[in-house]
Parts: sequence; structure tokens; C-alpha cells
Amino acid sequence: MALRSQIIESIDALSQSLQRLSRSGLRGFDCHPDSLAKLSAWGVAPQKHGETLTIIRAELGDCQRCRLAQHRRNIVFGSGSPTAKLVFVGEGPGFDEDRQAEPFVGPAGQLLTKIIGAINLTRSQVYIGNIVKCRPPNNRNPRPDEIQTCFPFLARQFDAIQPDFICALGSIAAQTLLNTTEPISKLRGRFYDYRGIKLLPTYHPAYLLRNAEKKRQVWEDMKMLMKEYPYET
Ligand code: URA
Repeated sequence: MALRSQIIESIDALSQSLQRLSRSGLRGFDCHPDSLAKLSAWGVAPQKHGETLTIIRAELGDCQRCRLAQHRRNIVFGSGSPTAKLVFVGEGPGFDEDRQAEPFVGPAGQLLTKIIGAINLTRSQVYIGNIVKCRPPNNRNPRPDEIQTCFPFLARQFDAIQPDFICALGSIAAQTLLNTTEPISKLRGRFYDYRGIKLLPTYHPAYLLRNAEKKRQVWEDMKMLMKEYPYET
């Protein structure tokens, strides 16, 4: 750990120097904004339990690890509180999310914002992420190899955030996290253990937009969550 800290300190010093040089107008090295974003993430001291979200984002870089990179406009890393007690996990970015580089900002996102409000929380108090970080073309389901490639980054985000609760939105999120092929209709309505975190699957807000009669079940799930959630809301 001491060696790790020393390395981080050295990288931090290097990062500061390079940024100072770039601010002074030096063009003798790569000053591309992406590179500078990476540099500013270097050397950020890890939290007590491990890496920070900034470090994970920096390592993701301009990810080309799977075919979804070819069609995306933006990587949608996740947003919200880095110390959230509750994380919502969707499937993958859609059109609006890909444009804005933010999860759940389209019609389904507006409904999710209302659901979060209904449990007396705000988007900035929770964290919102997705199983895959790039929009699948035509909003198809992410494929197993794409999930396998991308999911480890979300798992590391969980480790950095250390939430007490995860709400899995829809079948792809619930099935991935629970490693099952059971349909969401069977999975929802109770808590599971996901590596020590209480995981509650429920229907995806996009599904609710097409099946308004399922909102009642999501509300039942949210009431269960509120009952278990031991924090001021
Ligand atoms: N649907 C998802 O699963 N995630 C988003 O970010 C937006 C829509």
C-alpha cells in the first residue's frame, strides 16, 4: 500500500507539472482534452476501501473494448453521489443518454426521476448507472459478450461507492446482477444479496411507460425499499 501511495504521489506530481505546462501554452506533448481529463484523474488518492470513481473513469478512457464503441456518441459512465447509499442500475444508454452522456435523461429517465422523488430522494442523493455504458444500436438488448466486457467497470463502481442498496431496473440488470435467467416478473418484489449489498429488482421505467398497470407493483417495491432504508429521506 505504501508503494502504491508513492506511485500515486509521483503520478500526481507528474500530472500537475504536465497540466501547468499545458496551461502555459506548451505544445510539445499531447494536449488533447481527453488526455488532460485523464491526467487530472491521475493521482487522486484512493478512498479507504479502494479506488475512486475518477480512477475507474480514467481507466475506461475512450473505451474500444467491444463493438458498442463503434456506434456510440458518448460513454455514459454513471452519475450521482459517489457515496450514495442507493444505486439504481439500468440496462444501457438510449438515444438521449448517448447524446447527453448522462444516464436516464430521456422519457424513461423522467419517470425514474419521479420514482426517486416518490421515495423522498433526489437524483443527486443516489447513484445511477447501467449494465453497459454505450448505447446498443437501435436500443437492442446488450449482448452477453458486451455485458461481460463492460460489467466489471460497474462492479468496480459499486466497490468505490459502497452502497447498502441496489435497485435493479428491468430484466437485463436483474439477471446480470443475480446471474440468472428468471424473468423480472418472478424476480421482483423481494430483496436478494449481491456481495453483501441488498438488491431489489423491479420493472424498468421504459416498461412502465408501455405498461402503466405495472406501476402499482413498482410502488410496492419502492415501499419495501423505503421500509428497509435506514437513512433520512
Ligand atoms: N434505459 C436504461 O436502461 N438506461 C438509461 O440510461 C436510459 C434508458
